Amino acid sequence: MATKEFPLVPEDVTPVNTQHRKICTALPAPESVPLLERLRAIEPRSMGGQPPILWDHGTGEYMCDAYGNQWLDFSSGVLVTSSGHGRPEICEAITNMAKKGMYYAYAFPTEIRAQLIEEIQGYLPEPLKRIFLLTTGSEATECCIKLARTKGMEIGGKKKSVLITFTNAFHGRTMGSQFAGGIPGLKTWMGDLDPRFVNVPFPDGYRQEDVSFKVFEDALAAQGIKPEQVCGVMTETFQGCNATLMPATYAQELRRWCDKNQALLIFDEVQAGFGRAGKAFGFQHLGVVPDLAACGKGISGGTPLSAVVGTEELMCMYGPGEMTSTHSANAIAAAGALANLQVIKKEGLIEHAAKLESVLKEGAASIASASKGRIGTHDAVGLVCSLQCRPGSTGTDPDSDLAWNVVYNCYKRGLLLFAPVGVGGGAVKICPPLVITEDALREGLSVLEEVFKELV
Ligand SMILES: Cc1ncc(COP(=O)(O)O)c(C=O)c1O
Repeated sequence: MATKEFPLVPEDVTPVNTQHRKICTALPAPESVPLLERLRAIEPRSMGGQPPILWDHGTGEYMCDAYGNQWLDFSSGVLVTSSGHGRPEICEAITNMAKKGMYYAYAFPTEIRAQLIEEIQGYLPEPLKRIFLLTTGSEATECCIKLARTKGMEIGGKKKSVLITFTNAFHGRTMGSQFAGGIPGLKTWMGDLDPRFVNVPFPDGYRQEDVSFKVFEDALAAQGIKPEQVCGVMTETFQGCNATLMPATYAQELRRWCDKNQALLIFDEVQAGFGRAGKAFGFQHLGVVPDLAACGKGISGGTPLSAVVGTEELMCMYGPGEMTSTHSANAIAAAGALANLQVIKKEGLIEHAAKLESVLKEGAASIASASKGRIGTHDAVGLVCSLQCRPGSTGTDPDSDLAWNVVYNCYKRGLLLFAPVGVGGGAVKICPPLVITEDALREGLSVLEEVFKELV
């Protein structure tokens, strides 16, 4: 979402030396600038949106450059490194797989694929049973779209192929996932939109104040969509811009509506899944189980791996060879993902994220009150929080400049956040590795509070 580039001219900043953060050079570190400039010269501009730190090595909740600076990481990259940076277990699993001479297998069977899907299966509530490993979150949501349409058309022919998704939703950057998404600015490049992707308001209580399920039905009626045309409804459990869970009553009514109308319920758990929301899946907060879920990011802790999990019936609609991908279950990616899931279990990281939720909520509330009304809404679940900036003390218009300056000033103090996201680039997201200690979390939150105080 960020459209601004961080400057590459080194600036003298106040040195920082605490238990969790160390800044001892000008920023960006002068020695890193030639390489940062080379990246800017050769890559598309779109790759230049993050704070200019030349990532060199990391451990746990810290990321370091090669020049003596250490940032406390509130990004997890982009909600990926759940079991922390530089986990020896993940490094070892990847290395052992490579040493064995096994770095690629397409859909030929491997033991690591079997081990990983059995580990994932251990997390699945009934009736979710089967696991299809892929590479990216977008690939997983695309697969869900395909399965929903396939099932819908099996039931009702071509007219049952409308997928309902939500305003401001993000499901990835490929074409199908962007048709499904709910951020208008991301769709302009597609020209004409596909009328079989229909958005309804997400019940976040902020941009959409009325969170009753009636809004869903009214929005369909207003767009001329009949329930029998709908093959599925896909939603995040909380949206990337807000960290506000869909209300459980809404989700339960949605589940009933889908059952009644023979439509699939699909949760995009790419961001929420595997502990980020303080439960294995975000939908476990809502008292419902979907027919399909797309997983990614924290499932692997860093290697490129995603998954679709689904019911027996849906996952067996396609025959042998009809639903594969060149890098599905890449052996090295799968080895890393299995090690990540084992660390999550062994160290109780899901429970840890749930326990730290209150600290994060408390910190966000304190930052919001220090912001003099410039944070319009703040919410947290597990170890993910969103602070949505606005220009004045009322309304929901995003303030991307304030959000960007917050990220920039935190970077200069040794606190790492990714560039603002969400509606109009107004959301500052807090999403540290799940291994973060309470002390480190509190320190990072206090840095954010100081920065907000200075900027408003
Ligand atoms: C909810 C959600 N779905 C899908 C995606 C797409 O995942 P990927 O970038 O791995 O394709 C993302 C990525 O940010 C996401 O947050």
